Amino acid sequence: MNYYQFLKNSIRHIRTTGTITRSSRTTCKMMIRNVDFGRGRYFVELGGGDGVMTRYILRAMHPDAKLMTFEINPDFVRALHKIDDPRLIVISDQAQKLPHYLKVHRFPHADAIISSLPLLVIPSDERTAIVQACRESLRPGGTFSQIHYSPTLKNFYGYIFGNVEMKFVLLNLPPAFIMYCQKNHEHV
Ligand SMILES: C[S@@+](CC[C@H](N)C(=O)[O-])C[C@H]1O[C@@H](n2cnc3c(N)ncnc32)[C@H](O)[C@@H]1O
Repeated sequence: MNYYQFLKNSIRHIRTTGTITRSSRTTCKMMIRNVDFGRGRYFVELGGGDGVMTRYILRAMHPDAKLMTFEINPDFVRALHKIDDPRLIVISDQAQKLPHYLKVHRFPHADAIISSLPLLVIPSDERTAIVQACRESLRPGGTFSQIHYSPTLKNFYGYIFGNVEMKFVLLNLPPAFIMYCQKNHEHV
């Protein structure tokens, strides 16, 4: 999918895409900077879009690793299916069903979850359920990265994970905030 097709599609579905441009190269790199690709074999992406970040994740992954990517927009799902990589599992369904699909595809856990979901526009009880489910699905020490276009939800992630680091990415349209969290043993 080219830049203009993505733009047109995003404008048409602005309430579910949450932005009109795909993530920049800098953002894609930043989103995975905390991920342990050496040890991890089970990765999850939420809101794969047309695959711009998906490709970065696949490139960094071990040959035996797997990536499950969730996407609800049929045009983006079609674009994701065009990525020719047997390690990629495209889930054409809501990220809310993450625990179900982990079981279906026999993921014992997620080593890292990389999310571009527009969580700020998702109702707060649903948002809490999604992020709680992410935390529960991660192995101890596993990481969660989330892109936002405002710092509003920083404390929310701190509350769920017990830790959060925020980085500002100027080289993105619009400039972005990335939240990094880690599942630790102590926080319940
Ligand atoms: C901001 S776009 C990000 C696309 C791409 N990852 C990128 O960084 O350019 C967010 C994506 O999340 C998808 N999305 C929104 N709500 C979703 C949900 N509940 N489950 C799965 N995908 C969802 C949208 O269709 C959209 O493609």
